[in-house]
Amino acid sequence: MAQAPFALLLGGTAEASALARQLRTIRPDIRLLLSLAGRTKAPTLPEGVETRIGGFGGADGLARFIREHGVTCLLDATHPYAVGMSRNAAEAARLAGIPRATFLRPPWEQTDGDLWQEVACLRTARDALPLGARPFLALGSQHIAPFRHRPDLRPVLRQVDAPAEPLPFAATLVTGKPSEDVVEEAALLREHGVTHLVCRNSGGARGYAKIAAARKLQLPVILIRRPPEPDGPILRSLDAALSWLISPS
Ligand SMILES: NC(=O)c1ccc[n+]([C@@H]2O[C@H](COP(=O)([O-])OP(=O)(O)OC[C@H]3O[C@@H](n4cnc5c(N)ncnc54)[C@H](OP(=O)(O)O)[C@@H]3O)[C@@H](O)[C@H]2O)c1
Repeated sequence: MAQAPFALLLGGTAEASALARQLRTIRPDIRLLLSLAGRTKAPTLPEGVETRIGGFGGADGLARFIREHGVTCLLDATHPYAVGMSRNAAEAARLAGIPRATFLRPPWEQTDGDLWQEVACLRTARDALPLGARPFLALGSQHIAPFRHRPDLRPVLRQVDAPAEPLPFAATLVTGKPSEDVVEEAALLREHGVTHLVCRNSGGARGYAKIAAARKLQLPVILIRRPPEPDGPILRSLDAALSWLISPS
């Protein structure tokens, strides 16, 4: 007898939650489990969607989870910079012998008036900042360590939750989710006397307001380039990802 379809959706992005909601609505017969790493204290969970929180214990742990729970396909819709999880997803699907695909939202494109400098990594982003700059670091807590080697900087750090550990360097801390409103983001950058924006090319509508705000204020943006894409099928729209979940291959 054919196995009942059971999709495991690796999330942590707005798109993963949207996909889970849409599949629930149009194909309630397909079992779907949304998985989150548990990085934020109070994640917004999509209503009516089965969810689990926490790591699997590497690729082997994920492969075990897939086998033990009878998962039939794996969609990796984690953040474009969550390379560790994407690597584990590829390996686990291979070990468990189930189809896997990756959803990737398109990166932001430079437009007229943007003052972008694209760099390879966090360290090159740090080194690109001029002496005494006041950068706005729109980076998660696990990505800020390299900036401790630049005591001349006066960073402003934005994080969703207040950090559990003391910061590794002196910084002005702004907590909370980014605003989707350009005017609010520009007011925040201006209020703190920010000279540069440092961020990743996450793509998507939610984080774009800070980029538009930097353009409005004519602030340079140090943009950390995306890591290489995972191998295997890449789905670049929600429609394509939804079709794949309905008929994975
Ligand atoms: N990187 C970013 O800038 C960013 C931004 C926004 C949201 N996020 C989200 O935050 C999460 C963590 O990001 P990261 O960059 O720390 O990832 P990462 O370095 O690629 O992953 C580190 C570990 O976190 C666990 N993990 C990650 N995503 C998971 C998921 N969806 N479900 C269960 N476990 C997960 C896995 O632990 P085990 O090995 O124990 O399985 C993984 O090995 C991701 O889900 C991502 O979508 C990341």
